[in-house]
Amino acid sequence: MRIQGKRMLSELVIKTRCYRSKQNETISKDTLTELVNIARISASATNSQPLKYTISSNLRINAIIFEQLEWAGYLREWEGPSEGERPASYIIMLDDTRIKNDARYDAGIALQNIRLAAMEKGIGSCVIGSVNREVLREEP
Ligand SMILES: Cc1cc2nc3c(=O)[nH]c(=O)nc-3n(C[C@H](O)[C@H](O)[C@H](O)COP(=O)(O)O)c2cc1C
Repeated sequence: MRIQGKRMLSELVIKTRCYRSKQNETISKDTLTELVNIARISASATNSQPLKYTISSNLRINAIIFEQLEWAGYLREWEGPSEGERPASYIIMLDDTRIKNDARYDAGIALQNIRLAAMEKGIGSCVIGSVNREVLREEP
């Protein structure tokens, strides 16, 4: 059956590329919370909901987070976004291992939902999986 009207989702998917530089305005706490809420209602295997989130638009905390990220590891010449082009806001996704050890499928669904919802608002994002988790975990 043919559905009439615009198909905006495909546009959002196409535009949801990894934006690593050329930014940056701070995203408000309300908007970040809205995006986390989209993730929260995303599908979860056995509905166990092991994913938790923390957000930051705080300069000091952002700097701590940034130090523990690896940017485009395959671009050996590039050291990552320079000052002024670094992310102004972060959503950190955490896996509560007391609930589940491997939440990768939930994480993929939630991640893409967050990013599509962000793009709908005109906010570009990038997934960073290469995180020095051990160090970041110790940060106050
Ligand atoms: C699970 C996952 C982890 C990723 N981790 C990183 C990362 O640690 N550092 C980075 O610069 N990009 C990371 N990316 C972004 C990919 O490198 C990027 O999606 C890919 O190069 C394709 O580019 P595009 O999304 O703009 O099409 C990650 C993407 C995914 C889905």
